[in-house]
Amino acid sequence: MCGIVGYIGKHAAAPVILDGLSKLEYRGYDSAGMAVFDGKHIQIRKSAGRLKVLEELTHGGATMPGNIGVGHTRWATHGAPSDINSHPHYNAEETIAVVHNGIIENYLPLKEKLVSKGYTFVSDTDTEVLAHLIDYYYKGNPLEAITKVMHRVQGSYALGILFAEHPDQIFAVRKDSPLIVGQNEDGCFIASDVPAILKYTRKVYFIQNQEVVRLRADHMHFYTVDEEEITKEPVTIEWDANAAEKGGYAHFMLKEMYEQPKTVTDTLSPRIKDKDIVIEELGMTEEEIKAIHKIFIVACGSAYHAGVTGKYVIEGIARIPVEVDVASEFRYRNPILEEGTMVIVISQSGETADTLAALRESQQLGHKVLGIVNVVGSSIAREADNVMYTWAGPEIAVATTKAYSAQLIALYLLAIKFGKVRGKLDEVAFYRMLEDLKRLPAQIEMLLANKQRIQRFANRYIGAKDVFFIGRGTDFAISMEGSLKLKEISYIHSEAYAAGELKHGTISLIEKGTLVAAVVTQDALFQKTLSNMVEVKARGAFVLAVTNEGNTEIEKAADYVIYIPRTNQYFTNSLAIIPLQLFGYYVAVGKGCDVDKPRNLAKSVTVE
Ligand code: G6P
Repeated sequence: MCGIVGYIGKHAAAPVILDGLSKLEYRGYDSAGMAVFDGKHIQIRKSAGRLKVLEELTHGGATMPGNIGVGHTRWATHGAPSDINSHPHYNAEETIAVVHNGIIENYLPLKEKLVSKGYTFVSDTDTEVLAHLIDYYYKGNPLEAITKVMHRVQGSYALGILFAEHPDQIFAVRKDSPLIVGQNEDGCFIASDVPAILKYTRKVYFIQNQEVVRLRADHMHFYTVDEEEITKEPVTIEWDANAAEKGGYAHFMLKEMYEQPKTVTDTLSPRIKDKDIVIEELGMTEEEIKAIHKIFIVACGSAYHAGVTGKYVIEGIARIPVEVDVASEFRYRNPILEEGTMVIVISQSGETADTLAALRESQQLGHKVLGIVNVVGSSIAREADNVMYTWAGPEIAVATTKAYSAQLIALYLLAIKFGKVRGKLDEVAFYRMLEDLKRLPAQIEMLLANKQRIQRFANRYIGAKDVFFIGRGTDFAISMEGSLKLKEISYIHSEAYAAGELKHGTISLIEKGTLVAAVVTQDALFQKTLSNMVEVKARGAFVLAVTNEGNTEIEKAADYVIYIPRTNQYFTNSLAIIPLQLFGYYVAVGKGCDVDKPRNLAKSVTVE
């Protein structure tokens, strides 16, 4: 949540900051602001609303001259999204400016203490406490003041700080919120995430917890919270800079949906070697795989939905019991992790606060954690004992598509690997699964090519009030994700139900014309779900079915059918999700919604 960018160097800072913030708007977009040192003072401009408002306010940065500055795009936690609560925040003399991503948990006692010492506050934010607290401890040495503050605040923070008395320096600080710094021949940068500075440099340094960086135009110094200088090694980012651009697509979401064949290939192919599945990063011997008694999968949002699919697939193929938990529940429910329990956390961003906390909780209980993560070098990637990367590249749209698809692939690979090692799969079944996996990218491409038909269908539902998704087994798992895609971007109320459960209450919501999307890809459950479709149709529902090619019998219970190519029963989610993503996308487009940045959401949720 919240995005930070800072620049110090040969060029005007404001345009660089605005450009960087535009790549981070997915992190929060209810307000934005910048602080730039103009040679005499630190100027601040900030405003509620999208980054566009700040761009207009500053004429693209032209009204804020100066070569050193920090900027921020906000997702409100403390205090409504208003001009005054936007970042940066000043001290009273306007000689210190702070941008912050995270939450200061003990800001109230700190605020009381500062008020008792004569400090006055203008905003409702926790961040303003930092500006005044730094001021309180500042006696001419910025590093000393910052580290004193770090010893006193609790919570999470990534900070960018300017001092008017040190106009040749920016300070960057991090604890539990992401922050990177980078350098090129023209200057130094800070950012919450790589895409913000990828255009300028590929050499970045990942700041660790409780570290401070002093950036000058031509060099950077790194310090511990005890002011000891440390050295750090840069990491070269291999991503294509264009990956963070829309590249001619109307929205990032559409572009990212179209990248799914590649994402699936990239996640799959490095792990299929000589007709075998080789997951080196798993770090487990065959004996250790055989010794697994139970698996916990822990994640949030769509990553949780991928985990639900993972449960069905791992239990079905490898016959290992799997529990799936929403991370915010797992961390506080005192989970029973016995000997032989494997913990898998799944996260696109690698920064989700609850997922990170679940990882730490598991480690504290003495268990190794495997992270399935997309963002290289993210907190979860660094802290997990082993990391299996999903090679989806940068994902910008808040509603995930390609990273989710890559997560499914990672889970299939684990299930098949475990199934083989544990003797649950014979050679023929194993090779067939590998062949089916390899066919998925081309099959996804075929489904994407069908987008116009789905767009026409979606246009009929832009006025819908409620939509229900039903399915059994893995079809239920994909219904959850299909339902989330629709509601989060189109604001149409939608629920996913296990098809057999609908009649225990929810069916009373079905009215004439209510859309029910039934996913029916599990042959063994076909007749069962068909009966549930008939039940809702009898009550007036309009039934959309997503089913396997050849299942034409469905047409007697469905009003509209989308056929998906045949694959192994455990992999159908990778195909069924494509029309559901397209449906959600086109309904939202038809309604004129801001598809890439839905209201109230953020892509990287670094608060509990
Ligand atoms: C946010 C995003 C979702 C995402 C969830 C978990 O809510 O909007 O798309 O699934 O966070 O994020 P993660 O980065 O941990 O996968």
